Amino acid sequence: MRQTYPLLFASRPLEPNLDLEVCDKYSGEVAARVPLASPELISQAIDAAAKATRPMAKLKAYERQEILQYCVKQFEQRQEELAETLCVEAGKPIRDSQGEVTRLIDTFRIAAEESIRITGEIMPLDISARAANYRGMWRRVPIGACSFISPFNFPLNLTAHKIAPAIAAGCPFVLKPASLTPIGALIIGEVLAETGMPEGAFSILPCRRDGADLFTTDPRLKLLSFTGSPEVGWKLKSRAGAKKVVLELGGNAACIVDADANLDDAVARIIIGAFYQSGQSCISVQRIFAHRDNYEDLKARLIAATAKLKSGDPKAKDTFIGPMITEGEAERVETWIADAVKAGAKLLIGGERNGAMVEAALLENVPTNLPLSCDEVFGPVAILAPFDNFNQAIEMANDTQYGLQVGIFTRDVYKILTAWDEMEVGGVIIGDVPSWRVDHMPYGGVKNSGLGREGIRFAIEDMTEIRNLVIRNLVIR
Ligand code: SIN
Repeated sequence: MRQTYPLLFASRPLEPNLDLEVCDKYSGEVAARVPLASPELISQAIDAAAKATRPMAKLKAYERQEILQYCVKQFEQRQEELAETLCVEAGKPIRDSQGEVTRLIDTFRIAAEESIRITGEIMPLDISARAANYRGMWRRVPIGACSFISPFNFPLNLTAHKIAPAIAAGCPFVLKPASLTPIGALIIGEVLAETGMPEGAFSILPCRRDGADLFTTDPRLKLLSFTGSPEVGWKLKSRAGAKKVVLELGGNAACIVDADANLDDAVARIIIGAFYQSGQSCISVQRIFAHRDNYEDLKARLIAATAKLKSGDPKAKDTFIGPMITEGEAERVETWIADAVKAGAKLLIGGERNGAMVEAALLENVPTNLPLSCDEVFGPVAILAPFDNFNQAIEMANDTQYGLQVGIFTRDVYKILTAWDEMEVGGVIIGDVPSWRVDHMPYGGVKNSGLGREGIRFAIEDMTEIRNLVIRNLVIR
């Protein structure tokens, strides 16, 4: 890991200052410094992106594909460096960091494939006598300059989910990475600066709140794609003006373990889904609903498996639980657990805090009106409750302001289809946890979990508009 990283302004590295300290989230020491973009610089970057709209739109599909393929090669060569940097700046255990780099590569590889598949349709228009001699066809054209705001929890891959489809679609962009974890995005930018991206086509700009506003309000930007908390996301949407808005927000994902589930398998998957990267994922397992026949057995097995999780330095290969992103976040989780216990919940295991480290925790009997149940915990905590029949489990899982993904362990095809019909979510995952994702599938939520879908092809739809062509045929006979 280097000590400094430049920002990217109008497709070029730039180091106007080094005002932002990026800490090692485990040791708390300053690990690197990066620049902070001023509002003036951000405005100039938006101007450059807007001016690059036509040059980007004019890139041929094979040229966009070559840019994305170049990134894939570079990320493959820099895998180790990327994982180590991520491990330090996010405190993400090294094995999860390596996993995220693999996904970064997948995301760019998928975008390279999709970049040459942006097609349209021939549409006969002769539906009545007045249209007898008309034909139509439509295709997708880039929407223009995009504004991206990416979160701290997947600094590489959730940044890639914005940048890679934009390049595939032919859109210039400005991106604000999370201030706590800006380096992943800056390395992606460093690689992009080595490609033939048109002048001004992209900027990656860590900044303070005063500059961040422009990412939302500037009318030169045609789309805003934000990943982060619901509170911030919906506020941004209300201030985004005429822009299209895509929001990937939070969740308190449910996992249903029905009576016919294989408990060994369910426990192994739930432990990962609830506690990997300290639960700091929007689709982390937060609410576990188990059939009453299995409940006690599942609970005992989950407690036993949780007790074995190794926490500590994320750089160590066998660490499963690293630090949370800040001590403040860890304190919040500690408070939520304490409030639940005060209200009658039973802490089954874990929950101790030491600095930014929080032990993986399981609770039961958590009142449904408490934050630990009805808000997004975004920490290594899951709560358990029993159900008596599958319809009741669906109701309990749906009884939330969120709707990102649900995981269901059942082998009953009728229940699977009922869940697919009835669950108020963006994705139903059968035989696994809600936390499961591959990067080309549609991903996003309903209700307070957001608007729109990511997953390259689906993001490209948002980053393009349909342009229709109508041809009147002058009939010469
Ligand atoms: C998220 O936290 O929204 C993303 C989860 C993932 O990509 O695995």
